[in-house]
Amino acid sequence: METKIIHPQEIEEAVKAIKEGELVSFPTETVYGLGADATNEEAVKNVYLAKGRPSDNPLIVHVASCKQVTPFVSNIPEKAQRLMDTFWPGPLTLIFKLKSAESLPSVVTGGLETAAFRMPNNELTLQLIKESETVLVGPSANTSGLPSPTTANHVYQDLAGKIFGVLDGGASFVGIESTVLDMSQENGVPVILRPGAITKEQLEEVIGEVEMDQHILTEKEAPKAPGMKYKHYSPKTPVIMIDYQKNNWQEAINEFKNEHKKIGIMTHPEKKSLLNGYDAYYKLSQKYDVVEAMRYLFAGLRYLDEDKLDLDIILVETYPEVGVGMAYMNRLKKAANQKTYKK
Ligand code: TXA
Ligand code: MG
Repeated sequence: METKIIHPQEIEEAVKAIKEGELVSFPTETVYGLGADATNEEAVKNVYLAKGRPSDNPLIVHVASCKQVTPFVSNIPEKAQRLMDTFWPGPLTLIFKLKSAESLPSVVTGGLETAAFRMPNNELTLQLIKESETVLVGPSANTSGLPSPTTANHVYQDLAGKIFGVLDGGASFVGIESTVLDMSQENGVPVILRPGAITKEQLEEVIGEVEMDQHILTEKEAPKAPGMKYKHYSPKTPVIMIDYQKNNWQEAINEFKNEHKKIGIMTHPEKKSLLNGYDAYYKLSQKYDVVEAMRYLFAGLRYLDEDKLDLDIILVETYPEVGVGMAYMNRLKKAANQKTYKK
């Protein structure tokens, strides 16, 4: 199959393909999704095949309005309604109890009695969902295990030949996947299963107490979001974190240089100007700024992983684990397999 880059003015082609059960990658503010009609079991099966994704890892159902959620769920708790009013469209995924196990094909939910819903903040994709007259599954449109795609070109690199097309909406401005919040326990405290750009503090401002899944805090206990247990976000080249407090960049570069390693660094220009002996640089942000670092983290990992650079190691800047720093560090730690230089 020849995969097509679909330009915004050609959106009708994407709509037609979705209606025919084809796979079309769509842009969102977080990362690109791999879209298919969530009510079409065959199409959803092909999503898992194209990504090489384990089939017990359930998918997020993307909607263009709150109304599109109601047919599937038993009820929308009042707190959830408030969150939708505040943060939708936006980088927040909510998990609800389904009306019945048959409300959605079990390939979407991984056989669970709950399902995840999100309204992405992207005009083009909202139009795609509306005009397709259905709801769309949308896992990140990468090959399973690799960093998530934040441009149409990233998607093309991973999935060319395997999907109908990529709707090109430019670069994603958040850069990492949505916050996943479990609202399915009737009287329990809502739990963050995956940290994202919408922070615990922001959620608590709207609905009161929210918990962070223990696994995210300790990296030990088995995670509740099935997807969090898999190897994730890693380029082929090993990644090592440089602790912002130790700030031992030059020491790390010197050590790897002595081992005849080719080194890539991801930091900001001011820091870079103080360093020497590295082989490649990716500007993670203009200055030390976690929101910007989050936007370019995956793009940088992909860039420094390109074969032509032939690097042996990628060094990346850490941030304090507060606010959105939780989400940035969650992804970076996975990419680095938890490795910090001399820690
Ligand atoms: O920002 C995003 O959420 C992107 C864009 C494209 O919308 N999508 C995305 O999808 O990241 P995916 O499939 O890569 O991640 C979905 C996450 C996984 O960790 C999965 O295990 C979890 O959500 N999840 C989905 N349904 C669930 C459920 N019913 N219960 C618990 N976790 C669930
Ligand atoms: Mg993913």
